[in-house]
Amino acid sequence: MAPRPYQPSLLRLLHGATAIGVALAWLSGLIVYSQYDGRWGRLPFRWPGDWIDLHGSVGVALLPLAVLFAAYAVTLGRRQLGRASNAVTLGALILAIATGKLMQEDWLREGNLNQLVYGLHLLAWVAMAGAVLAHLAGLLARGGWPLARSMVSVKIRKGDLPGDWPEQLRRFLQSRNAP
Ligand code: HEM
Repeated sequence: MAPRPYQPSLLRLLHGATAIGVALAWLSGLIVYSQYDGRWGRLPFRWPGDWIDLHGSVGVALLPLAVLFAAYAVTLGRRQLGRASNAVTLGALILAIATGKLMQEDWLREGNLNQLVYGLHLLAWVAMAGAVLAHLAGLLARGGWPLARSMVSVKIRKGDLPGDWPEQLRRFLQSRNAP
């Protein structure tokens, strides 16, 4: 029998927190689009509340998580990043956050929808949906449910507890410096 897939606990923590942040940012972004833009259609309902403010707060919380996750992915997780569906998802995340950082809150409130940065931010929103779907399809094709489940499992093997993270990082740095 093939060994059960296992994801390091630090990856699961950073990946999980980032994925939750991405889902909240994506959904609140959809509501902002529907209420302040709507050029390609609107949601059939309106929710009260300052969704621009809310979406911005999710973005602010997501930024440090995404930076840590990206740092993990390009170092300790580099091998997994060799798969296109993983790399493209990270690329979409970086585009969404970078263009989001450059957005100005007042643009949408003032109906100023022709800003290039806003266009790119909308593109990143579409790209994120496509990338996550491709990410999931790639995982399911390669390893089925056991691989997908391995990322949301809460079981931790011996030697992979939070106290072991510094040692994992040290080993990674040592392997890089080895001749
Ligand atoms: C929602 C936003 C998501 C983003 C931005 C994202 C991003 C990524 C990235 C960049 C990697 C590579 C990590 C590395 O290099 O170590 C990865 C791996 C992985 N992700 Fe996601 N992911 C998302 C959602 C999900 C979801 C919903 C699942 C399903 C449970 C999932 C399951 C996995 C698994 C199993 C791997 C390891 C894949 C492998 O062995 O190649 N991801 N993800």
